[in-house]
Amino acid sequence: MSSPEDPLPSTTDAKPSTPPVLIAPSVLPADFSNLGNECRQLEEAGVDRIQFDVMDGRFVPNLTFGPDVIASVRSSASVPFEAHLMIEDPDHLVPRFVDAGCDLIIVHAEACRHLHRTLAAIADLGASPAVALNPHTPIEVIANVLDLLDMVLIMTVNPGFGGQAYLSSMEPKVAATRAMLDTSDRWIDLEVDGGISAKTVGGAAAAGANVLISGSALYGHPDGQAAAVSELRQLGTEAWRNRTGLPR
Ligand code: DX5
Repeated sequence: MSSPEDPLPSTTDAKPSTPPVLIAPSVLPADFSNLGNECRQLEEAGVDRIQFDVMDGRFVPNLTFGPDVIASVRSSASVPFEAHLMIEDPDHLVPRFVDAGCDLIIVHAEACRHLHRTLAAIADLGASPAVALNPHTPIEVIANVLDLLDMVLIMTVNPGFGGQAYLSSMEPKVAATRAMLDTSDRWIDLEVDGGISAKTVGGAAAAGANVLISGSALYGHPDGQAAAVSELRQLGTEAWRNRTGLPR
C-alpha cells in the first residue's frame, strides 16, 4: 500500500532513457456515492495513479471534496494518489491531504503567495511536490523552483469542470516546459489535464507530456475503462517515442 512516506517511483529521481507514459484518471466523473469501488475498478483497469480534483468554489467556479473523502477511499486502491488542489492559499490544508494518503500534491502557482515555501513544505511532509499552471500563466513562474519539483502540470483547459474542449494552443507551452525541465539533472514529470482523449493524447505526448490525466474520455469509452487506459497508453507512448526518435 503506498503511503506519503513512500515517494513515488524513481521517474522523479533519475533521468530515465525512456520515461514511462503514465495514465491517471480524474475521478471527477465518478459516482461519488460509490467512490471506493470506483477507485478499485480504476486500479483493475490498469491506471498508474488516481487524481482527485479538489475544488474550493473560489479558485475555480466549482466545489468538490476535501481530504476526509480521499482518506475514506485510500484503502480501496494501492496505486499512488495525487491531489490536484484547485484551491486558494493551499498551505493550511496540504498536511491534511498528505495525512489522507496522497503521495503527490499539486498546487497551483496562481494560488500560492510563496510557492517556493509551499513546495518545500510538501517535500518536508514526505509527499512529492508538483505545481500546476493555468493556460494564461507563463512557464517562467516555475523557473526558480525546478529543484523542488517532481512534476509540472500544464492545464489544457481552464480548470473547474470536466468535459471541456482540449486547448491545442497549449502544446507549444508543453514543449517549452519540457525543454525547461530537461535542463534539470533530475527527471521531472510533465502532466497535462483537460480534454485528454484518444484524439488529443498524441499531440500532448508529442509536445513532451508523459503523465496524462483523463476524466470524461476514460469514463465514457465505449469499450470500458481498461480499453480506454490501454488505448491512451499506447497512443501516448507511440507519440512520445516518435518525439524522442526512439523505436516504437
Ligand atoms: C479541471 C479538471 C478536469 C478533469 C479532467 O477542470 O481537473 O480537467 O480533471 O476532465 P476531462 O478529462 O473530462 O477534460
